[in-house]
Amino acid sequence: MVGKIQISEKIRSDLGLGDTDSFRLVDGIGDKMPGIYIDEFAGRRLLSTSSSGLSLELSDWASNLLPPATTYWKRLDQTDRKSPILISGPPVENHFEIAERGVRYLVSFQSGYSQGIFLDQRDNRTRVRDRCQAGDTVLNTFAYTGAFSVCAALAGATTTTLDLSQPYIDWAQRNMELNGIDVSSQYFCKGDTFHWLQRFARQKRLFTGIILDPPTFSRDQDGKVFQAEDHYGHLVSLATACLSPGGWLLCTTNCRRLSSSLFDRIVRAAIPARACLSQFPMPPDFTGEQYLKSILVET
Ligand SMILES: C[S@@+](CC[C@H](N)C(=O)[O-])C[C@H]1O[C@@H](n2cnc3c(N)ncnc32)[C@H](O)[C@@H]1O
Repeated sequence: MVGKIQISEKIRSDLGLGDTDSFRLVDGIGDKMPGIYIDEFAGRRLLSTSSSGLSLELSDWASNLLPPATTYWKRLDQTDRKSPILISGPPVENHFEIAERGVRYLVSFQSGYSQGIFLDQRDNRTRVRDRCQAGDTVLNTFAYTGAFSVCAALAGATTTTLDLSQPYIDWAQRNMELNGIDVSSQYFCKGDTFHWLQRFARQKRLFTGIILDPPTFSRDQDGKVFQAEDHYGHLVSLATACLSPGGWLLCTTNCRRLSSSLFDRIVRAAIPARACLSQFPMPPDFTGEQYLKSILVET
């Protein structure tokens, strides 16, 4: 096991991720360690396992890291979505900074099941940053802690960050401030994406770019269910109605029940026939199952 982790470390160090201190170090089957995932966040390690117990081998590995590193453990099979637990090293402060291609984000190991950034979206964040320019207006739906908004705003766009959760909107504002973005020049909406997209369309408030990265399943305050495989097409149609001429959509999903080809068909069916689609692979440190599907739609 330790030997395999060392091989994974060597592979990651050769990837040239560039000014990035947070990445997937071990990706299960892709690194010949099925059910074991290790993410590095600016020197702190998050070990996730799909089994309910932690093997002696893994806990020994965490305790004997040189130089010693803080390691937390997360069970992927849990239903109560608790924060990871500390298994070695000193505890981390509640929100600590990470860097990704020169952009800074706040990460937390104490705010529940997710840590504040999805490392598998790194290349999509770069794509958004590369596409945006001053004068653009970008809507980041299902925004979580606003990482896509930070990238768009850094490139000069005026962003609208939309999420159901006020604590995540607050976190998004802190991420912006961390990067020197004036939050008073950006927009934030709390509420349901479906509701807001219809409202924006009625108001003729159009965007240069819209990011759609919904959870596989969610239920809004009124109990209305979103299920990616059933409702993604409708989401794309609603977003398309809010695009300015020549605008773009970034559509992503980690729904394992949707294959790349089915996702492509769903998106294609919901956009104008003249639109151009490009599909993107996952970042190179994600060597295992290719669950994240990403499509850029240019209208
Ligand atoms: C998978 S995360 C999105 C990750 C984010 N796109 C990123 O890359 O950082 C899902 C987010 O969607 C939000 N959410 C779930 N259902 C929603 C809805 N109907 N409308 C708006 N936000 C929603 C959740 O609060 C959560 O922050």
